[in-house]
Amino acid sequence: MVESVLFVDDEQNILSAIVRAFADEDFRVLTAASAEDALRFIRDEEVAVLVADNLMPGTRGIDLLETVKRISPDTVKIMMSGYADLPTAIEAINIGEVFRFVVKPWHNDDLLKVVADALGRYRIVKSLRRGDEAVIHSIAQTIELKDPRTRGHCARVARYALLIAEELHLSEQAKREIRHGGWLHDCGKIGVPESVLNFAGQLNSREFATIREQPVWGAQGAREAQLSQGIINIILHHHERYDGQGYPDGLSGRDIPLEARIVAVADVFDTLTSDRPYQKAHDRRTAFAIIAELGGTQLDPELVTILHDILLGAMGAEN
Ligand SMILES: [Fe+2]
Repeated sequence: MVESVLFVDDEQNILSAIVRAFADEDFRVLTAASAEDALRFIRDEEVAVLVADNLMPGTRGIDLLETVKRISPDTVKIMMSGYADLPTAIEAINIGEVFRFVVKPWHNDDLLKVVADALGRYRIVKSLRRGDEAVIHSIAQTIELKDPRTRGHCARVARYALLIAEELHLSEQAKREIRHGGWLHDCGKIGVPESVLNFAGQLNSREFATIREQPVWGAQGAREAQLSQGIINIILHHHERYDGQGYPDGLSGRDIPLEARIVAVADVFDTLTSDRPYQKAHDRRTAFAIIAELGGTQLDPELVTILHDILLGAMGAEN
C-alpha cells in the first residue's frame, strides 16, 4: 500500500515546490492550504506523515498537530518553521508532539530524509501493533541496523536478562515481556530527533535533554503499538539508576520496575563485554569487577550478584 504524506502550508508556492520535488517518491503527496483543510483529509483517510508549517492564518501548525494527535494517533508529525519560530518547534519536540522539525528554507534532500524516517517510524508502530514474536524480533534487528556498532546487542541483552528472570522464577508472562523488552529496549533510537542535535551551536543546552528523551520516545511508540506494560517499562526505565540519578523519571531502588532493573544490568554487562569503537571488550571477570562497583549506585546490587553467579558459576572456566 502506498502511504500518504500530507503537507500543510498557507503559501501556495511552497506546496507547489514540494509537489515538484517529491513527484517521483514512493509515497503519495497530499497538500492542504490550511489546518482546516488538513483536518478534512485526515478525517477521510489514513495519513502516515503530516508535515505542517507552524505560522499560518487561522489555526497554528502546533495546534493542528495537537488535534491530529487525538484524532489520528498513528500519524507521524513533522513541523516546519522559520528560525524566528524555533523556540515553538523545540518546545513541540520536547513535549513529544512532533517527531522532527525542519527549518525553512529547507533542502529537498534533508526534507526527504526526515519524511523517510517518519515513514519508517509509522511502519514500525503499525507492524508492532500487529506484532507476533517474529515481527517484534525482526523489528529489533531493524533497530540495530541504525547503529551497526551494536550488532547483536539487543539479542544478547535479552538473553542475559532472561537468565536473571529464570533465576528469580518469574512467571512465563514476565519472562516473555523481558525477552521482548530486551530486544526492543533501545527502540527510542528511532525517534531521536537528529535535527535537534544538528543545531548544536544554538541548542547546546538542550542536547543532553534530547538524549534523555530516547526512552520516552521509545515508550511512546511501544504504547502506540499497544505493547504490554512490562515491555513499555523496560523501554522507558532501563536508564534509571538505583540511586535515583538516572532518567527519564529519576526513580530509585525498587520504585524502578523489576523488569527494567534486570534489563539495565544485562545492558551494562553486554556493553562492557562487547567491542566498541572506543574500547575493546572486557573479559567477563573484569566486566563483573567493574559492575560490582556499580551495584547500589547505578544498578540493583542483588541482580548484579545473580548474573555474576549464573555466568561465572556456570562458565567460570572459560574466562
Ligand atoms: Fe542498550
